[in-house]
Amino acid sequence: MGISIGIVGVGMFGQGFVRLFRDHPLVDRIALCDVKAGRLAKVAERFGIAETYASLDEICRTDVQALAIITQPWLHAPQAIQAMEAGKHVYSAVPMICLAEGDKMLDWCDKIIAACTRTGMHYMMGETSYYRPQAMYCRRRAAEEAFGNFVLAEGEYLHDLDHGLREVARNRRGDQWDISHSGGVPMHYPTHSIGGFLSVMRERVTRVSAIGYVHPNDDWFRQDTVSGNVFSNETAFFRLSGGAVARVCEYRRVGHGGREGFRLFGTEGSFIDEPWGAHWVTKSDITPLAPEEMRDPLPPEVLEAFSRESSSDVEVYGGHGGSHAYLVHEFVDAVAAGRRPSVNAWEAARYFAPGVMAHKSALKDGEWMDVPDWGDAPA
Ligand SMILES: NC(=O)c1ccc[n+]([C@@H]2O[C@H](COP(=O)([O-])OP(=O)(O)OC[C@H]3O[C@@H](n4cnc5c(N)ncnc54)[C@H](O)[C@@H]3O)[C@@H](O)[C@H]2O)c1
Repeated sequence: MGISIGIVGVGMFGQGFVRLFRDHPLVDRIALCDVKAGRLAKVAERFGIAETYASLDEICRTDVQALAIITQPWLHAPQAIQAMEAGKHVYSAVPMICLAEGDKMLDWCDKIIAACTRTGMHYMMGETSYYRPQAMYCRRRAAEEAFGNFVLAEGEYLHDLDHGLREVARNRRGDQWDISHSGGVPMHYPTHSIGGFLSVMRERVTRVSAIGYVHPNDDWFRQDTVSGNVFSNETAFFRLSGGAVARVCEYRRVGHGGREGFRLFGTEGSFIDEPWGAHWVTKSDITPLAPEEMRDPLPPEVLEAFSRESSSDVEVYGGHGGSHAYLVHEFVDAVAAGRRPSVNAWEAARYFAPGVMAHKSALKDGEWMDVPDWGDAPA
């Protein structure tokens, strides 16, 4: 039996998910919701969707079973909890929440996990790096124990401020924008640099030491009086629960237009992903890997439904390395089957808390810090 779903927030990112949710074979009914009436009407018309709501409060009063919350990052956690309290399963865009104060972010983590337990509703964080072909391939190799023991992970999200990020920040605040909201804390949005390799290793970060970089004559991060953060780049060194180490970079001042990815080294095999291509490497061989062979297959009926209005792989699978199709499928399938989704609240906290603690460490010039953990998701 199919499910009903509402998309809350049809801005720059949310619009990219409407077709996929609408066309998933297990979705019987879809509604859209945004507080911006003009934007909502336009998107509803473009995708031929009749059921619309003017706010989260309004859609929470309906009998729609699940909500995909794709609003601004500082709104995610309270909105996710409001939706779960209203009896809805929740998909949230990353991160769980992004605020100036790390302690408040950890508190929200607590509250989301408590809300999942209290309400029995499922929560999924839409972590794109989890469903990039590289991560799917590495999870399969890890299941075969082809890596041996993990020894080192390197992950990064490199995205220079001048490559669209100033505009994104202004667009998300709209009329509320002023320069005091510039910058933010790079490690407070750490999921793309951490989530990929952690999803493969099935380990957690236990300790962190991190260093911040202050860009000379910075006209953005030093203007951010809300967070008071001056670091455009933060580099973290992590200790993992299985004994391996990880180096993670969250950089907003770097000669790079955008990269989220990882390399993963084991005693028997390693995964290398560079601009010239992904490779599986052993002591005797280097094997190039194409995205088509790295992806897991989607169920045929889902692939067929997503292909119907698409003329290329990019359209079938959607953005961020083709992760969108998998995110939508995982959430819809989990709700329909009544099972916990892959990147549930407990898993999401593991991609998120290490970044919060990394920033605290960077503020103390690399002091080692313990990373909190909420345990594994209950069965
Ligand atoms: N790789 C990734 O996973 C990735 C990439 C880009 C963006 N994102 C995430 O997607 C989210 C959205 O980003 P965006 O650029 O589309 O932002 P946006 O500002 O363009 O869109 C957010 C929309 O949410 C709506 N909204 C806010 N509060 C609402 C409410 N109470 N009820 C109904 N609608 C409400 C706003 O009116 C707006 O249209 C962000 O949190 C961001 O972190 C993730």
